[in-house]
Order: sequence, then C-alpha cells, then structure tokens
Amino acid sequence: MSDPVTIFEVGPRDGLQNEQRQIPTADKIRLTDMLSETGLRKIEVTSFVSPKWVPQMGDAAEVMAGIARRPGISYAVLTPNMKGLDGALAAKADEVAVFVSASEGFSKANINATMAESLERIRPVAARAAEENVPVRGYVSCVTDCPFDGPTPPHNVALMAEALLEMGCYEVSLGDTIGQATPRAVNYMLDAVLAVAGAEKFAGHFHDTAGRALENIDASLAHGLRTFDAAVGGLGGCPYAPGAAGNVATEAVVAHLHSKGHDTGVDPAKLAEAGAFARSLRSVPA
Ligand code: HMG
Ligand code: MG
Repeated sequence: MSDPVTIFEVGPRDGLQNEQRQIPTADKIRLTDMLSETGLRKIEVTSFVSPKWVPQMGDAAEVMAGIARRPGISYAVLTPNMKGLDGALAAKADEVAVFVSASEGFSKANINATMAESLERIRPVAARAAEENVPVRGYVSCVTDCPFDGPTPPHNVALMAEALLEMGCYEVSLGDTIGQATPRAVNYMLDAVLAVAGAEKFAGHFHDTAGRALENIDASLAHGLRTFDAAVGGLGGCPYAPGAAGNVATEAVVAHLHSKGHDTGVDPAKLAEAGAFARSLRSVPA
C-alpha cells in the first residue's frame, strides 16, 4: 500500500464526552491503552474543559496520569482556555487542541463566547503552548451546518481557519459537528479553505449522523487532505450540538482507506478489539 493517510483517533474524547453515564476513569484509561496497541500515532485522550460544562471529562488529569504511553504516539488533549492549558501542561500532554466555531450559534452554546471572543481567548493559549514547545492543533466546528444557525458560509470557515493557522496551529481540523455535510457542501467549503493554505494543513472531522461521512472523506481526499479524525466504535457527539450522535467509526474509516489502497499503519484486528470495548462503554450498548 502507499499514499499514507493519518488517522487522528478522537474516541476517548469526542466519543465519550457525550455519554450520560459517568464512565469509570479506569475504563477510559483501558480504552486509550488498547488504542495505543493498534498502530495509531495520534490519540486525543481527554479534555481539560470546565467540569460544570462537561462532567464526563472531569477526570482529565487522572486519565492522563494513568495511561501507558507508547513512544511514537502523540497523546493530545482539548484546551478551551488558559486554565485548560495549565492542566494540559501539568499532565504533560504531547499536544493540545484549541477549538472555535464557524457559526455564532454553536460558538455561544459550546464555549459561551462569540466567534471573535473565542479567537481572543485562545490566542494566549496558543502563544503559551508555543513557548513550552507543545504543538497546537486547531478545530473549526460547524464547517457546513450549524444546529442553531443553519448552513455555514464557507467564507466563515476560511476566516477562522486562517486565524488559527496565524496563531501557530500546525493543522486545522474541519468539523462537521452534526454530521449533516454532503460531498457538495464539503467541496464548496474546501474550495474556500484551500485558498488560505495547502491541503497538508487540514484534517477532516466528520460525524456520521446522516451516514455520509465516508463520502465526505472521499470528497476531502480528492482535494488532497490526508488526515482524518475518527472515533473507535463510532462513539460520539457533542453535548452542545443537538443531534450530533456518532463520530465516524475508526474501523470504518480504516477499512475504507485500505480498500482504496491507502496506508494507515493501523491493525484492523487490534482496532476491532478496542472498538468492541468502546461500544461496551455506551450507556445503551449497541
Ligand atoms: P464559562 O462558564 O463562560 O467560563 O465557560 P468561566 O471562566 O466563567 O468558568 C466557569 C467555571 O468553570 C469556573 O468555575 C471556572 O473556574 C471553571 P467556578 O469559579 O464557577 O467554580 N473552568 C474550568 N475548570 C476546569 N478546566 C477549565 C476551566 N475553565 C473554566 N479549562 C468554557 C467557558 C470555555 C470554560 C466552557 O464553556 C467550556 O468548558 N466549554 C467546553 C465545551 C466542550 O468541551 N464541548 C465539547 C468539545 S468541542 C467539540 O466536541 C467539537 C469538536 O469535536 C469538533 C467538531 O465536531 O466540530 C472539537
Ligand atoms: Mg466532534
């Protein structure tokens, strides 16, 4: 196989953050440790966000302290503000992620800030992380559709992505937060975004709510993107995005990419084991 594609595993964070039942810390650690055995090189483990907003992620420090780190894997965490970055640095995260929205409605609901305010809030986070030599990844949510504002103008996505890259993000992940994107909408959005920077600066982050995530990945591959976020077991959703159930399953993405001749470095059998455990953690096992 050739033409490598990087899978950014977000299951322990995006997958679990929406679960109603408080998942035991030991199970979160076990899930990440199982993922570390699969060949994945990027794993988003947890988020240092306000536990008042997302109680499920309230054990971020304990999870980071408990995982068995394998050399060559970057263990990432989400950081919404300076307090989150302090937690991430204390936990020795290998990289951090800042997140903004391309729509005002979701920005307010998710992080209690306007789009402009959110950029000002994370600017010092990115600067401090750079001082500490910790790579920063950026997320833009609602890149085609917002649960509150409807369709997102591609221009908004380009502006937010440009701002994140200017702050020093090494990559910007483009989030179809509610899984309503179509390949056509992805094409329009990427035409705008790729006028800002090359495809190597972007990742696709597709939720599979409407069953189109793999088609949207194909549209993104055709534009040159070679990094995709996915959640093992297809867990996921965002507590502040009504209807955002289900990140695209890592197993499905890996199988799809391998069938197209791409190399992910991921062992499907080991991934299936982690997927079975991930699904067993759901409030209503599927
Ligand atoms: P706020 O209420 O406006 O902020 O929330 P605040 O500064 O007034 O803080 C409220 C309380 O939280 C205070 O505690 C703070 O100390 C505490 P109190 O004084 O009342 O006792 N606090 C924190 N505690 C721990 N760690 C922190 C932290 N920050 C404040 N980092 C805030 C603003 C941004 C903090 C809040 O809205 C928040 O945490 N939001 C996160 C929501 C979230 O995690 N959403 C899911 C992730 S995004 C996503 O899933 C999309 C993505 O997957 C891509 C896609 O699909 O599109 C990435
Ligand atoms: Mg997401």
